[in-house]
Amino acid sequence: MKRLLILVALLLFFSACGNGDEAAETARDAAEAELTEFELQHGIGPIDEPLDLGDVQIERARAGAEYFDSRCASCHRMEQRFVGPPVGNITESRSHEFVINFILNPEEMTQRHPVGQALLQEYLTTMPYQNVTEDQAFEILDFLRHYADTGEDLREQ
Ligand code: HEC
Repeated sequence: MKRLLILVALLLFFSACGNGDEAAETARDAAEAELTEFELQHGIGPIDEPLDLGDVQIERARAGAEYFDSRCASCHRMEQRFVGPPVGNITESRSHEFVINFILNPEEMTQRHPVGQALLQEYLTTMPYQNVTEDQAFEILDFLRHYADTGEDLREQ
C-alpha cells in the first residue's frame, strides 16, 4: 500500500513537471488578468475611456503628416513591413484608443499588453516613445485615418 502511494505521488509529480506550457499559459493569463477589459481591447495608456471622434479634420491630418514624417517614418511604411509593422490600415485593424495608447505608451504596451507582446516578439525592436504630445498623437491619428479612408498620403503634397 505504501509503495502504491509513493508511485501515485511520483506520477503526480512528473505529470505536473511535464506541463511547462500550461505553467507559462497560466502566468500569461495572470499578467493579462491585471488588465481591465478596456485595456485589453484598447490598450494601456492615457486613453482609458471610449473616444468618439468625428470626421477627420484635414488641417490636423496635414500637421500629423509632418510629425509622422519626422518621428515615425524611419520605422513605419504605410503598406510594407519595415522596422515596425505597416500602419496604412491600422485604424481598421485597431481602435482609435489603441493607436493613441500605443503612440504615447509603447514601452508598457509591449511589456504588458498581449498584442504588444506579440508584436515585439515578431519585430524584435521596442518602439521608443517619440516625445509626441497627446494632441500631436491625435493629429497623427487623423493623418492615418485619412490615409485609410482615401488612400491619399498627405506627405506627398
Ligand atoms: C525605432 C522604430 C520606431 C519608431 C520611430 C516608431 N515605431 Fe511604431 N512600432 C515600431 C515597432 C518595432 C513596433 C512593433 C511593436 C514593438 O516591437 O515595439 C511598432 C508598433 C507600432 C504600432 C502598433 C501596430 C499594431 O499593429 O498594433 C503603432 C500604431 C505604431 N507603432 C505607430 C507609430 C507612430 C505613429 C510613430 C511615430 C510617432 C512610431 N510608431 C514610431 C517601431 C517604431
